[in-house]
Amino acid sequence: MDARQMKIKAAEAALAHVEDGMRLGIGTGSTAEEFVRLLAEKVAGGLRVEGVPTSERTARLCVELGVPLKSLDELPHLDLTIDGADEVDANLALIKGGGGALLREKIVACASDRMIVIADESKVVETLGAFPLPIEINPFGQAATRLAVEKVAARLGLSGSMDLRASGDGLFMTDGGHLILDASFGRIPDAEALSSELNSIPGVVEHGLFINIASLAVIAGPAGARTLQ
Ligand code: 5RP
Repeated sequence: MDARQMKIKAAEAALAHVEDGMRLGIGTGSTAEEFVRLLAEKVAGGLRVEGVPTSERTARLCVELGVPLKSLDELPHLDLTIDGADEVDANLALIKGGGGALLREKIVACASDRMIVIADESKVVETLGAFPLPIEINPFGQAATRLAVEKVAARLGLSGSMDLRASGDGLFMTDGGHLILDASFGRIPDAEALSSELNSIPGVVEHGLFINIASLAVIAGPAGARTLQ
């Protein structure tokens, strides 16, 4: 089974949790896009759902494939969000934001009764942090915010490089008009402490640590899909 087939397997298993009439948060990334393709087939077959996309990219795919969309303001309470992740640990703590959509992803997931993560085995880790942690920051005062993040990291014994995410010739801009600082800590032994410290920095809009948000993860490997909960 190749990487794409594993993403499809995870997406298929998550689709089994989708019921007629559900209000769905729809994630961002290549795994979430496999879910959108499968969901679109079900919608074409008569399944009635309303989706809230977590990015402009996901919104475009949903429109193209005929998945009905609403804004989060129209549907502020969702039944279920299905989204990918960059890392997932045994307690369902996640690193997200590899696709730069972490702010809307977190808002949508937190507006949902449940969040199901879809991923392949390569995303499962013992300790979060090998994947650089995306930190979404306001462009205003970005140098001061970076210093504040470095101070927090040092206080928690974390070290490593921090790079503003690039795109083409310039800097990557999120759907909300913010920048992403990718922090390569290697290991984040206390993700909860880092999360609350980052939340206290004014220039940090949001970060990619999702703790106590996901309720289930469907992990696909060569031998099939398993769940973590
Ligand atoms: C986007 C995300 C994605 O869910 C994450 O990057 C995983 O993407 P993929 O399924 O392409 O590996 O958090 O912001």
